[in-house]
Amino acid sequence: MRATVSVPGKVSLFGEHAIVFGEPALVAAIGKRLTISAEERSDRAVRINAMDLHVPGVILTFTEDSPELTVETDYGHMVGAVGYVREAIEAASEHLGSRLGVNITIRSEMPVGAGLGTSAAVSVGTVAAYSILAGHQLPLGEIASLAHKTELRVQNIASPMDTSVATYGGVLYIRPTSPTHIERLQVACELPFVIGYVERESRTSELVKKVRDLRESYAEIISPILQSIGRITERAKAALAEEDLPTLGRLMNINHGLLDSLGVSTKALNDMVYSARFAGAVGSKMTGAGGGGCMIALCPGKELEVSTAIKVVGGCPFRAPLSCEGLRVESVEK
Ligand code: PMV
Repeated sequence: MRATVSVPGKVSLFGEHAIVFGEPALVAAIGKRLTISAEERSDRAVRINAMDLHVPGVILTFTEDSPELTVETDYGHMVGAVGYVREAIEAASEHLGSRLGVNITIRSEMPVGAGLGTSAAVSVGTVAAYSILAGHQLPLGEIASLAHKTELRVQNIASPMDTSVATYGGVLYIRPTSPTHIERLQVACELPFVIGYVERESRTSELVKKVRDLRESYAEIISPILQSIGRITERAKAALAEEDLPTLGRLMNINHGLLDSLGVSTKALNDMVYSARFAGAVGSKMTGAGGGGCMIALCPGKELEVSTAIKVVGGCPFRAPLSCEGLRVESVEK
């Protein structure tokens, strides 16, 4: 038997990092997906085929004197993604009370480990596909919660933001209460985003720890910054309902400044953020944990100019429309 599911990537619109400390966030699924197939094996082994992952930072070098090709990849990202598969299988097996041998195959339309929620997508997809093989179509809530457990086991700290949006899709307002408060927002307008990508220098767990340490050392300064980010998210939720793009843009700019003050942005990210604004974006900010990775620019009618500006400062621009669709079962073959 083989089960294949697909899961969307995401951009966090507002509230990353602050959500780890109890503030709300706004997050949106994007139209780039990761596909996971799980196939039953006759033994109890787990084999992971992730040959097709787009690992960022591949460098190919050859010179006339030494024509051999050297290939350098950020292998760490790949090993990282595989860690989520392992923990997701563990979490699903414990939950279902049965352990199967599986071949897992992963394909991704997005770069892995770039702040587009691929680790959450891997966790959600693995839990879902593995559970189908084990004879259970779990409710979405259970899948989201097992995938969140997976992220917690791998990263030690993780909010339910990425795993929720990977499971449910759409644009979500999330409060990290127990149980997680999730509201699906009806967004009538097109949100014309351009995403810019540069190679990532740090992992999510390192960046979350950096903010936590800063908050411990300078509580009276950092806690109000995190609370302000939470307030920005509330204002952005209202602006989204009113389709007020200029306000959304301004709030993105403020949110970026606060994230930069927490030390999670980088020069490469800031270059993309500012050049996008210079090229006509109504707002721009880093998205996700930072340390490189991705930024988003809201740029109605200026997508081409903004893409060019991102390229000029060394980033890789791409368009990814927001997507309503979360986890999708693609096929189940007996
Ligand atoms: O690295 P990403 O894009 O998955 O973003 C993580 C977002 C944080 O808020 C920094 C951490 C979290 O678990 O919510």
